[in-house]
Amino acid sequence: MSSRSPDQKPDPAASARGSKLASEFTVSLHYDRRLYPQDIAGSIAHARMLARQGIIKQAAADSIVEGLRSIEIEIAEDRFPWRNDLEDLHMNIEARLFDLIGDTAGQLHTARSRNDQVSTDTRLYAKSLALEAVAGVRSVQSALLDQAAAHIETVLPGYTHMQRGQPVLLAHHLLAYFEMLDRDAGRFAAAGAAADVMPLGSGALAGVPYPIDRQSVADELGFSAISANSMDGVSDRDFALDFNYAAAVCMIHLSRLAEELIIWSTDEFGFVQLSDGYTSGSSMMPQKRNPDFAELTRGKTGRVVGHLMALMTTMKGLPLTYNRDLQEDKEGLFDAADTVISALEVAAGMISTAEFRPQKMREAAEASYVLATDVADYLVGKGMPFRQAHIVVTELTDKAAATGKYLRDLSLDDYRAASDLFDEDVLDVTVDSAIAARDVPGGTSPSRVAGALKAARDRLADAGNA
Ligand code: ARG
Repeated sequence: MSSRSPDQKPDPAASARGSKLASEFTVSLHYDRRLYPQDIAGSIAHARMLARQGIIKQAAADSIVEGLRSIEIEIAEDRFPWRNDLEDLHMNIEARLFDLIGDTAGQLHTARSRNDQVSTDTRLYAKSLALEAVAGVRSVQSALLDQAAAHIETVLPGYTHMQRGQPVLLAHHLLAYFEMLDRDAGRFAAAGAAADVMPLGSGALAGVPYPIDRQSVADELGFSAISANSMDGVSDRDFALDFNYAAAVCMIHLSRLAEELIIWSTDEFGFVQLSDGYTSGSSMMPQKRNPDFAELTRGKTGRVVGHLMALMTTMKGLPLTYNRDLQEDKEGLFDAADTVISALEVAAGMISTAEFRPQKMREAAEASYVLATDVADYLVGKGMPFRQAHIVVTELTDKAAATGKYLRDLSLDDYRAASDLFDEDVLDVTVDSAIAARDVPGGTSPSRVAGALKAARDRLADAGNA
């Protein structure tokens, strides 16, 4: 704490510096100005309602609406005289309304507080962000389905622990991401639904002492409901948490996909070549095709996860009702939305232009031990308990590996040395037979994957029609 003795003179320069710092600290204009269409729509609906209810004169409402419309055009055409000394968007618009229509402007803020106003604006905007995010998710899903359809016969090793495990179809692998993204679409839609409740009419915190008609304002603005409690109305930011969570999980999914594309595009794997539009050269090493877009998708996941964490931390411990802390909801929400929406666009383009390498993938599956489980299952078919078959095949593969052989290189004699239950037909156990054998719902057999692809197409079409 600083203290000043009574005989010390105040230093005007220091206090000017102090107040400049203070206003920079509280200002939100540089990020909340993007809410201007929502703010103006909310104010127009509010002013009209005030006139309908006889709270202000119709002529005053008309002049307010007209003034707000010109302000909207000024902002859209980048002619608006923004004032940084007015800390936020709402005060800038109101001050400009005074310039344009005079004292009538003072009637707009009747029966309203910036507390219910800012939450209404942010919710309207969050609803549109949620729709945009869902559309972005759908375009990635569509790109995945096209590649899955093109690779319904492409075989590759499926991995656990990054070790080759069992063979799968590339379409099956890609459809796994379709499922993740389908859940993302559901989470974004839920965040949009959480935002679809109008707090306007809550006033500062307790409601307002005017005969307002909240429902008509909600109808005009396209909200499905009005908030049930004014104190919750001005201090609830669950919708922003929900959006940030949906964005964080979606980025995590895109990051996993990006990571696979990065690994698969290495010389060591060679499973995919990313198109030039999604790679860049190195300033020093002429041979490079760096997967920058995939890497940045992976990298930007950190900040989106961070925005969720930041807002949860801001909300924790906030007493009712509005506290200025709540202003911190917007920057993270906007950045989470901008980041995930652009990452979705990049993912859609990167997937649809990627060239997968079926020969490299098949070779990786065949030059391996991915059939070991199937050879053990073969012994189970001949009556051996699975645990014992597991031991026999472990010995078989260890021995093969020691002599530099894969399972495809083993002769019937090699098999029979491990167990006399092996017959000629063990040589029919192949990557393709292993895939075909997994004919269970959710499995990788060609017929199941064809069915899954068709079902996924139908689901995507239904979602588009919903
Ligand atoms: N800029 C503020 C925010 O984003 C608007 C609400 C300000 N309300 C207040 N009582 N100071 O939250």
